[in-house]
Amino acid sequence: MRTVEWRDDRLFLVDQRKLPWKLEYLSLEGPDAVARAISDMAVRGAPAIGAAAAFGMALAARVALSDGLVGELLRERLQGAAEMLKSSRPTAVNLAWAVERQMRLAEKVGYSEPGALADALLAEAQRIADEDVEVNRRMGRYGADLIEDGFTILHHCNTGALATVDYGTALGVIRAAHEQGKRIHVLLDETRPRLQGARLSAWELKQLGIPFHIIADNAAGHFMRTGQVDLVLVGADRVAANGDVANKIGTYKLAVTARENGIPFYSVAPTSTIDLSIATGDDIPIEERDPAEVRTAFGHPIVPDDYPALNPAFDVTPHRYLTGIVTENGIAYPPFGVNLRRAVEGSL
Ligand code: MRU
Repeated sequence: MRTVEWRDDRLFLVDQRKLPWKLEYLSLEGPDAVARAISDMAVRGAPAIGAAAAFGMALAARVALSDGLVGELLRERLQGAAEMLKSSRPTAVNLAWAVERQMRLAEKVGYSEPGALADALLAEAQRIADEDVEVNRRMGRYGADLIEDGFTILHHCNTGALATVDYGTALGVIRAAHEQGKRIHVLLDETRPRLQGARLSAWELKQLGIPFHIIADNAAGHFMRTGQVDLVLVGADRVAANGDVANKIGTYKLAVTARENGIPFYSVAPTSTIDLSIATGDDIPIEERDPAEVRTAFGHPIVPDDYPALNPAFDVTPHRYLTGIVTENGIAYPPFGVNLRRAVEGSL
């Protein structure tokens, strides 16, 4: 089953807050519930929230159809849903990319036949989901060439099937290398405060039979300096036109440490994550989440709740620290300003 799947007239999402202890699905019937699932991180990971939001737009059209809306009222309902879904998490550009793709389609189909519009938006959401899986497999094939037999790879956050519709970005590359028969070992940053590495990436690698160890985030530098890491692979939530990469908080520190130790550092990102309208990483909005996530370890208090805490969910890694960016159209190397544009146009 996919992380994001349409079945029985509803959207099913793996509830990632419950893993690794329970594999449970949420079943959603309206766009508000989808926006909530995204902001509460029941579904998370840039491509997964993009696909979920695309289905959220299809659900908005179905609810409007049953409410009897047509014409301008239908358009306003969809525009409202689009704004709500886009604002549910600000950093990952895939969310806005998928919602805007749905709005463009709605404008093309028109608002005079609500049934036809609802069908068109559902078919497009399905296409977005299917394309994501195909794109991940292509990135996997390109990226696997970077991995040699016997490599130890350091990975941050969760970028696997759970962060996408299926297969994964950086973990997809690791999976592709494993499927090619390469013997690899993965060091998984636990990724405080939400522990996506410890809870989700470890759960995925265990199922795939890929050897791993979870490490405390603070241990990554030690493993790099002592020669125990051959390659660092991370995902991306938004890549600016100059190659600056916004990704899970802690990525920047890893990139600087990798450079200091001469270790290649790659981001794996579909072209839907590349935002050519943003010149540099300084312009990427960084989500600030509830400080309570820092004061607790997944629900369990560490300190009293009146201790102040700060919780930026992402950081920006300047492009000079990136060895390359793996896309579904090939690996972009510096100068990123030229080569990312080529990747987006499909001509790397
Ligand atoms: O806050 P999250 O868990 O949604 O953050 C996820 C990441 O930062 C991933 O690295 C990114 O979305 C790319 S994964 C396909």
